[in-house]
Amino acid sequence: MTNKLRYTVPGMSESDAERVVELLQGRLDATNDLHLTLKHIHWNVVGPHFIAVHEMLDPQVDAVRGFADELAERIATLGGSPCGTPGRLVEHRHWEEYSIGRATTQEHLGALDLVYAGVIEDYRKGIEELGELDPITEDMFIAQTNQIELFHWFVRAHLEDKSGNLSTAGATSETEAASAAG
Ligand SMILES: [Fe+2]
Repeated sequence: MTNKLRYTVPGMSESDAERVVELLQGRLDATNDLHLTLKHIHWNVVGPHFIAVHEMLDPQVDAVRGFADELAERIATLGGSPCGTPGRLVEHRHWEEYSIGRATTQEHLGALDLVYAGVIEDYRKGIEELGELDPITEDMFIAQTNQIELFHWFVRAHLEDKSGNLSTAGATSETEAASAAG
């Protein structure tokens, strides 16, 4: 899907606006994927800490869905057309589908640690680039990253020992992280 802009916000060049829209669309794909993944985990966790983790995740789902809405509306504000279809997301994402079904809370939190880490890394790359392109969108990315990093800490606090070591340290895949945490 091409995203030729017919107009954009005052004071921004068309080429800058096109790049900002691309960065926004990338985060729209990531947040749509993330809120669906968080619900999937909410439904599939089992074990003694079920209710704590099950209930911890719903406010994260709601917040991340709100981020997707903000990102999409920023695309429209810049004169672009946000794409929120599952097909686009699957075609363009550079990460793998979340790979764990029914599993213990620790296993899912271990895998979710890696999911959040990937999402945050991409937000930070976007922030770096947006510093030159558009401080308004940069501000949105910064505010969303602040919340997502907080949620990442909620997850990591379950994976940490008394000395502050993470059980998932060094894991390079969700399954590896899940088995290290479990
Ligand atoms: Fe529910």
